Amino acid sequence: MKKEEIQEALDLAIRQVETNLPYFGEKFPAAATVNNLYPITENDDWTNGFYTGMCWLAYEETGNETFCKAAQSQVESFYQRILAHIVTDHHDMGFLYSPSCVAAYKLTKNERGREAALLAAQNLLGRFQEKGAFFQAWGPVGDPANYRLIIDSLLNMPLLFWASETTGDPIYRTQAARHIQTTLAHVVREDASTCHTFYFDPETGAPLKGVTQQGNRDGSIWARGQAWGIYGSALSYRILGDPSYLEIFRKVTDCFLQHLPKDQIPYWDFDFTDGSTEPRDSSSAAIAACGLLEMAGLLPEQEGKKYREMAANLIAALTENYLNRECIPGMGILLHGTYAKKSPYNGVQDSGVDECNLWGDYFYMEALTRLKHTWNPYW
Ligand code: GLY
Repeated sequence: MKKEEIQEALDLAIRQVETNLPYFGEKFPAAATVNNLYPITENDDWTNGFYTGMCWLAYEETGNETFCKAAQSQVESFYQRILAHIVTDHHDMGFLYSPSCVAAYKLTKNERGREAALLAAQNLLGRFQEKGAFFQAWGPVGDPANYRLIIDSLLNMPLLFWASETTGDPIYRTQAARHIQTTLAHVVREDASTCHTFYFDPETGAPLKGVTQQGNRDGSIWARGQAWGIYGSALSYRILGDPSYLEIFRKVTDCFLQHLPKDQIPYWDFDFTDGSTEPRDSSSAAIAACGLLEMAGLLPEQEGKKYREMAANLIAALTENYLNRECIPGMGILLHGTYAKKSPYNGVQDSGVDECNLWGDYFYMEALTRLKHTWNPYW
């Protein structure tokens, strides 16, 4: 991708963020759009942090105080949310608090952001299961029907590493490292494809089985899960330096790339490819690109360059055919994402199918920022 193309796409994304600020006011966009328009909601889903993260990215890029002011006011909302425990009984504390409150602290030394993010990290610690050594994703803690981890959780771990760094208390780091080890040992299959969720025996902690929630079927490859695996293994390698995580990154990345259709943007599950009428999940390409760019900066020049080029190809493909260029208040940035698609074998209802979603928008902006220059991650 040429420099000017990156800048043009970033400018379009920032213009959409700016247009959306007065539209949402003190409220938040929903997780996914309806006809490419985000419904207006409260700060009560796992996705709100991406909205604030986009404000921070826009602020970093432009220096425009409007973005900073909006993000700081949202940080206050995140603080109130964790104090009042509003929809916080799940593991997604990192998705919520890294791009919002950790970013606020890193960029502006906002102490409220630090305090909120630490409360979120403590909340997540409470979901650690000694039997099995993992963070339980969903449901009441210890509930046998919910005794499982999910691959997405890898993105929640940087919050814990940051918490140890900022407090000097090693407990967050220790538990995060244990969770990563457990997760990567069980969700990555022999052929480097990944399963979405993995169950353990609540009595003994013994590993039981991989099961999908959002993928097409238990043995399939949910495209976004594979992308979480790419970014999650890259972050884990950066933080822990374990060479086995680099190996996993290489394998899960190869698997992702091998399953891409001609235009490089995954269908929502890799059971589907060219010729299918199933919808795409554009967000998977954006997430994978961020993982590739994260790892590119950690590797010797030649291998790093290879991953950087792969990321640039994904972002070029998104920019060519998936970028919303309309800029209407409330609209999303990246078209054709899929939040959840019901199949005869999975556990979800249709939601945000062939729509924009907040994480797709956020990771697309993050990838453009990373392509433009070296960037200090919120993760
Ligand atoms: N982390 C939830 C999802 O990717 O849909």
